[in-house]
Amino acid sequence: MADLNELSEKLSAIKSEIRSELDRLGSSKSVFEYKKTIFDSKTGKVGSLMREMGKIPAELRAEYGKKVNEVKTWAQGLFDEMDEKFKREEMRLRYEAEKIDVTMPAKMHKQGYLHPNTLIREQIVDIFGSMGFQIYEGTEIETDYYNFTALNTPDDHPARDMQDTFYLSDKFLLRTQTSAGQIHVMEKQSPPIKIISPGKVFRSDDDATHSPMFSQMEGLVVDKGITLCDLKGMLDVFVKKIFGEDVSTRLRPSYFPFTEPSVEVDVSCFQCHGRGCKLCKGTGWIEVLGAGVVNSKVLKGCGIDPDEYSGFAFGIGIERIAMLKYGINNIKLLFESDLRVLEQIRE
Ligand code: PHE
Repeated sequence: MADLNELSEKLSAIKSEIRSELDRLGSSKSVFEYKKTIFDSKTGKVGSLMREMGKIPAELRAEYGKKVNEVKTWAQGLFDEMDEKFKREEMRLRYEAEKIDVTMPAKMHKQGYLHPNTLIREQIVDIFGSMGFQIYEGTEIETDYYNFTALNTPDDHPARDMQDTFYLSDKFLLRTQTSAGQIHVMEKQSPPIKIISPGKVFRSDDDATHSPMFSQMEGLVVDKGITLCDLKGMLDVFVKKIFGEDVSTRLRPSYFPFTEPSVEVDVSCFQCHGRGCKLCKGTGWIEVLGAGVVNSKVLKGCGIDPDEYSGFAFGIGIERIAMLKYGINNIKLLFESDLRVLEQIRE
């Protein structure tokens, strides 16, 4: 480039190109990219002019370098200005987008609550636990022997019809009652025995107050001199703790093959206090559980001498207690986990 005029023309072309190009740039990133096309020492429009410096005759070199440098400084100034302007705006937008409104209401987290069945089971365990009962956990699959035969309910016994059983085979079934656990405990342990046994039981039964799967809490006490009075006294304490201090119990004769005598236990209606209402069907009493004095045949079958020891047993339906206590009119509501129902039940 022998002629400096030619350089001047080139430089003013570059300048006007830069001027018009700057109007089109919209971000600090585009400034950065565009800057490369000007300053890059190989491909940049000004950068490559600097590279050509070596080819310039020595006497023109100083002037050449000065002219190129002038444009370079000018362009750099413009780019810096643009860059700063865009960065400021970009920062402002970012702050705007990330702004936290501390006056906004906080996101509420829903808190879970214990299921009514769990609440009742835990209350029962606490009550009997404080009376010194230990927990025995049986199995949901049982043999016909433990569920029936050992409970004084042999094959041809009509009481087998009281419970519609899900048989798994000739020998195995889904337990219809936690009473099966009584036998396991009495076979393994010698008196004194004082256990409760919570668990699921299964019967082919299905309506508003019955479900094919439900939960029971078995209780068993075997010791010297245990009578029906002990049962009654203990159940009085139990119902007062569950339903309230002003509630009392009454025993009605009933029948279970493994207890003799057998009783149904009623509580005085905790809603109308005995006057008669819908809950107690006008009777003033509500049936809550089955119980009785352990049949001597059952004790004997487990190797416990009925002349020396006696005992009582009871079976509480956990869903039934939950339904009564929390005013739930359909057992299915306890298995559907509908939050509209569950949220109303807190303890
Ligand atoms: N197992 C009986 C039932 O499920 C309840 C019960 C238990 C009765 C213990 C007496 C003694 O109906």
